[in-house]
Amino acid sequence: MPALLVRDLRQVVSPAGGPAPLRGSALGELRVLEDAYVLCVDGLVDSVGTMAELDRPTLPGELVEVGGRGRVAVPGLVDCHTHACFAGDRAAEFELRARGATYEEIHASGGGILSTVAATRAAGETELVGVVERHRSWMRAHGTTTFEGKSGYGLDRDTELAQLRAVREAGGVPTWLGAHAVPPEHADADAYLDFALAQVLPEAAVLAEAADVFVERGAFDVPQARRYLEACRDAGLALRMHADQFTEMGGIPLAVELGARSVDHLEATGDEGVRALAGSDVAAVLLPVAALVLGRPMPPGRALVDAGAIVALATDFNPGSAFCESLPVVMSLACTQLGLSPAEALAACTVNAAHVLGRADRIGRLEPGYAADVVLLDAPDWRYLAYHLGGEHVAVVVEQGEVAWER
Ligand code: NIG
Ligand code: FE
Repeated sequence: MPALLVRDLRQVVSPAGGPAPLRGSALGELRVLEDAYVLCVDGLVDSVGTMAELDRPTLPGELVEVGGRGRVAVPGLVDCHTHACFAGDRAAEFELRARGATYEEIHASGGGILSTVAATRAAGETELVGVVERHRSWMRAHGTTTFEGKSGYGLDRDTELAQLRAVREAGGVPTWLGAHAVPPEHADADAYLDFALAQVLPEAAVLAEAADVFVERGAFDVPQARRYLEACRDAGLALRMHADQFTEMGGIPLAVELGARSVDHLEATGDEGVRALAGSDVAAVLLPVAALVLGRPMPPGRALVDAGAIVALATDFNPGSAFCESLPVVMSLACTQLGLSPAEALAACTVNAAHVLGRADRIGRLEPGYAADVVLLDAPDWRYLAYHLGGEHVAVVVEQGEVAWER
């Protein structure tokens, strides 16, 4: 593979702030180099520096140059929470919600997540792979170079495993969301978990890196989540949790007790939950698009950062509550709705999101030795990423040292 040089960049931006995960004031520390270059060799960042420091005689012989003039380089964005593997859509449900129906009402009447389960079960694995690849290409056009993808729209053995394989095949990081909802063929949540833990977990544990559970009224309660997560942990999976989206059900204390990687959502989290997370190693993954789309209160982003919690941001990309694949939009909402600075927002969807995926030593920074995942922006300043709501400044996406996408 030839080396790749991006030169004459207006800015090269990378989170500073010491080793991952970043907490408190370290989240907002950024290194901005002006009139700079990035050199990638063998899929890794080899060096980053000012143009004056570029040592031409030592450049590798086989070299591809990508135009950087007037552009800004940031690390490839990391989306640590998506439901990118689903069939069908929920456009009709979107219209019902626009007319006043609530997400929980639609879920309780068998629509919502369960309607996507029906569509996903009906799709074959080839179709699912194609869908995840399509969604991945959408994400990439917004600067995402690493994405996590959950199952949870199969809820039977074959479809759950097919979802995990599809995410993996499309280059994503698979999470087994085996406890997303209770499918209609099981009498209740406990009966469903009997099935899922006996019949699906053994193979899911081989395909997935983490397990996730939706702790909510109408989904799974804390004792059920404990049973599911303990079994998943014993099978070697890292633990994640959807918690406090609509109600505080006690998910945070359970996540802290079990040493989960993250709790995600947190729209309903109060002061005690903020304190519990700040005193723990469990990351708070904030999903402001879901809060916006469902008209929920925003999660307490500022309070979590100030208290010292590990804060990450993600899209929650899914067909119901967050049909949005753009991390720049999420960064925008983080700045306008959660009280984060642009630098905090960038670190929350690079370094800290990489930490949530267990990859903070490899991705999320433009530093020597990190994966050469680089996003070039056609913008005068890196803050346009968050500042220009819905702006399309991503011009080139480099993945592992090769151009993967160009506008
Ligand atoms: O994170 N809250 C639960 N699960 C997803 C939504 C899934 C759906 O609506 O299809 C979420 O928002
Ligand atoms: Fe989610």
